[in-house]
Amino acid sequence: MKLWAGRFQKETDTLVNDFNSSISFDARLYQQDIAGSVAHARMLGKCGIIEAHEAETIVNGLKTILADIEAGQVQFSLDNEDIHMNIEAELTQRVGEAGKRLHTARSRNDQVAVDTRLYVKEEIPTIIAQVLSLEEVLVQKAKANLDTVMPGYTHMQRAQPTTFAHYMMAYANMFKRDVTRLEDCLERLDECPLGAGALATSTYPVDRFETAAALGFKQPTDNSMDSVSDRDYAIELLSALSIMMMHLSRFSEEIILWCSWEFKYVDLDDAYSTGSSIMPQKKNPDVAELVRGKTGRVYGSLITLLTVMKSLPLAYNKDMQEDKEAIFDAIDTVELCLPVFAAMVDTLTVRPRDMARAAAGGFINATDCADYLVKKGLPFREAYMIVGRLVNLCIKTGDTLDTLTLRDFRAISGLFDTDVYQALALKTCVNGRKVYGGPARESVEKQITLIEEFVEARR
Ligand code: ARG
Repeated sequence: MKLWAGRFQKETDTLVNDFNSSISFDARLYQQDIAGSVAHARMLGKCGIIEAHEAETIVNGLKTILADIEAGQVQFSLDNEDIHMNIEAELTQRVGEAGKRLHTARSRNDQVAVDTRLYVKEEIPTIIAQVLSLEEVLVQKAKANLDTVMPGYTHMQRAQPTTFAHYMMAYANMFKRDVTRLEDCLERLDECPLGAGALATSTYPVDRFETAAALGFKQPTDNSMDSVSDRDYAIELLSALSIMMMHLSRFSEEIILWCSWEFKYVDLDDAYSTGSSIMPQKKNPDVAELVRGKTGRVYGSLITLLTVMKSLPLAYNKDMQEDKEAIFDAIDTVELCLPVFAAMVDTLTVRPRDMARAAAGGFINATDCADYLVKKGLPFREAYMIVGRLVNLCIKTGDTLDTLTLRDFRAISGLFDTDVYQALALKTCVNGRKVYGGPARESVEKQITLIEEFVEARR
């Protein structure tokens, strides 16, 4: 018989029974649900809403249920609809009378709100720790490649010289923002909706500060209607995770390009690559491709949740039951991607000679050539035009700027001298860019220190 059978004259249709039930996916909230119920029962006892011994009976009963669920000895039923009613039914079956008092001054609406918040609150630090591990990998790669010159790109065209270290620290800064976004989300969600009841609290003298503190929340939420209607924290989390997956997908894309024979900037470790069932020569970057692909799942979850919540009137609506699979899938996906991605980056081999080969072509020192003339007194616009002509000449003759003769240079501008070759050397070009944030060794060392301090402060 249903908990709410009193008002009804018919059994629920079996189709509706299945359709309505969320136990197949919200069973994973059993720990949070029990923690919430323990806090609620203790508070009811403390505030004299139920007898102290009843509260104790409830708490003890819930503890045995938790242990038994963990041991795989509790069978959840579809008829009990969701994790909340399954646990309540199990409790009453075990402890009788006292169990029936647990739901005093409570609704599944504040119950599910507190369970989901607790779940998200526990997962965010796990994700942050995984991102920090990735940061540590990036720092190691950067330290080992401070002088590994490679082309930087705009429009996927070789643009200006940089280093692999500078590149790694670009991603490190992106992931740093992801961490602060997650922290920000954590900070804002740290309020407890328990006690909001269905939407309008209750007439019992419940102490919401007591339950909030018992569950480790900073404070109770300030408005009971908002408490049961709000899924912003989940949307914020999924937004932050989507942005992070976007970063991972960009990084994945670069790694996929870099390990192609067209680039050959890196080699993935055999343990982090896969082969082909037909082409014997293949070594494929499946890990990076899957991370790139799974980005779509996380975006999908965000869009699911935003769309579920769109236009929902206050307060609780059953639509909101659709939030959980999106939240779980996004969290699972991210927690799956981060460690394998970090390990793949950690074990990849950098190929400085191939990067140098690519850096030598594509005129990535053309800006430096113009800057050379500027330092000799020419306005930048004129210098830019002159170097454009030199590049044009090189393309005709098959030269690069540094293989032109001094005579070639001087034919276009008398300002060129023998020191131009030194100015065009890629090492000079990189290490000349000592500007804060730039690719010069000392600038990147500063960037590394900042990321190290950021990670250190959170370890
Ligand atoms: N299973 C429901 C959910 O996930 C719990 C809340 C149900 N509340 C209600 N009034 N039917 O959203």
